[in-house]
Amino acid sequence: MAISTRELTPVVGAEILDVDLRKVSAPARQAIHASFARYGALLFRDQTISDDDLLDFSRGLGDLDPPPNQENGRLSPAGYPDIYVVSNVLDTAGAPIGALGSGEAVWHTDMSYLDVPPFASMLYALEIPDTGGNTWLCSMVEAARQLPDHLRKAIAGRRIKHDGTYNSGGFLRKGVTPTDDPHKAPGAWHPSLCVHPETGEAMLYLGRRRNSYIEGYDADRSSKLLDELWAYATQPKFCYEHHWRVGDLLLWDNRSTMHRRDPFDNSMRRVMHRTQIKGKSAPIPAMHAAA
Ligand code: OGA
Ligand code: MN
Repeated sequence: MAISTRELTPVVGAEILDVDLRKVSAPARQAIHASFARYGALLFRDQTISDDDLLDFSRGLGDLDPPPNQENGRLSPAGYPDIYVVSNVLDTAGAPIGALGSGEAVWHTDMSYLDVPPFASMLYALEIPDTGGNTWLCSMVEAARQLPDHLRKAIAGRRIKHDGTYNSGGFLRKGVTPTDDPHKAPGAWHPSLCVHPETGEAMLYLGRRRNSYIEGYDADRSSKLLDELWAYATQPKFCYEHHWRVGDLLLWDNRSTMHRRDPFDNSMRRVMHRTQIKGKSAPIPAMHAAA
């Protein structure tokens, strides 16, 4: 084996041991890609990588995807437009250096309001608060596998609207018109049950709760069903809770997992550098998901 792995939970995530992301051999890279498809999220600890190293490793997974438009627009380290900063820190002029502040970031998957969302995202931890700010992941493969029959029947063959108005911190994206009407909101419709292009596994695909809508139902029925689906999919048994250390790189698959972040004390600093990788196709409907 070119790499050794340790499962983070029985349902999602693995730590890759003994890999220095500055020099990944071709066989190790292949093994990392295979583990990524299998576990949905990978953790690399004790890294000391530069922004160039982060870009090099990211490019090994595919084409870089431009950063999302957040509440402060797109904020990148100087000279690195493909990296985006997640941080509560202000610069010397009092302007935010990154996105998402210090509040909770609610469950979501990245940029599913696009027709072709980025298939993977990664965060590299440069500064971490003493407590709080943990990042949670949940397995949408396991959620699909255990999906109760009544929910499967209720959503099979239907699409869900994914909202592009608000980000996971509850902030309005820069330049977007606020609305709480899912039909007026910018966004994309995607199949509620998708199939993973590499593993062939079925996945529940919810995106984000706010301004979401299940096609073919009235607003009340859609809303109740979505509440039930979200409560079901984010149960602790489907989750991994990541306690950050400086030097951690956490990589997740935006199709087979969702994520959220705990709030933290805003007097503490949290600085993450982030990249995301272009999806190769729109989410693929799981045709036989009703079976
Ligand atoms: C993200 C994100 C959560 C975190 O970068 O897409 O949701 O823990 N971040 O900072
Ligand atoms: Mn995110």
